[in-house]
Amino acid sequence: MIARSARTPWNYSSSDVVKLNASVGWFPERTEDDYAEALARGPAVGAWRSEQLVGFARAITDGAIHAYVDDVMVHPEHRREGLAVQLVDALCDAIASVRTVTLFCGEDLVPLYERASFTRTQQVILHRQHPRQ
Ligand SMILES: CC(C)(COP(=O)(O)OP(=O)(O)OC[C@H]1O[C@@H](n2cnc3c(N)ncnc32)[C@H](O)[C@@H]1OP(=O)(O)O)[C@@H](O)C(=O)NCCC(=O)NCCS
Repeated sequence: MIARSARTPWNYSSSDVVKLNASVGWFPERTEDDYAEALARGPAVGAWRSEQLVGFARAITDGAIHAYVDDVMVHPEHRREGLAVQLVDALCDAIASVRTVTLFCGEDLVPLYERASFTRTQQVILHRQHPRQ
């Protein structure tokens, strides 16, 4: 089942997202507090199997001009079932009023996002990292 949570009330907990993160092997430094903060600020979608969160994606957006898709992840035992494409499509439905939706991915995943109607650009990504106080 794919369900969406547009801002609060948040119908699944940040601990579910941290557990899914761990199953994917991603970002061990991210805490439940980090996700509680992040999830309160933007729309997100989840996929469940037998009450377990097995897929997730969220957006960071100003609500009008730009949105960025982030944290697309699917539990290793539930991959290649089409969940990621469904999650990204559902997330984009939730932010359909935003003009431009952007995401960053590796070369290997371009075909995945093309299935969700994204197109490649010539831009490069730069990061500025801040150590947490
Ligand atoms: C990437 C990820 C989200 C894909 O989830 P998924 O539910 O298995 O993806 P889907 O089943 O929707 O895949 C749809 C299509 O995308 C492509 N695709 C999916 N995973 C891929 C991979 N790891 N490498 C290359 N292409 C891939 C395939 O064309 C696939 O179609 P097919 O199964 O008919 O061949 C999942 O492997 C994951 O969580 N990986 C770790 C976290 C990550 O890298 N997230 C993306 C950050 S940009």
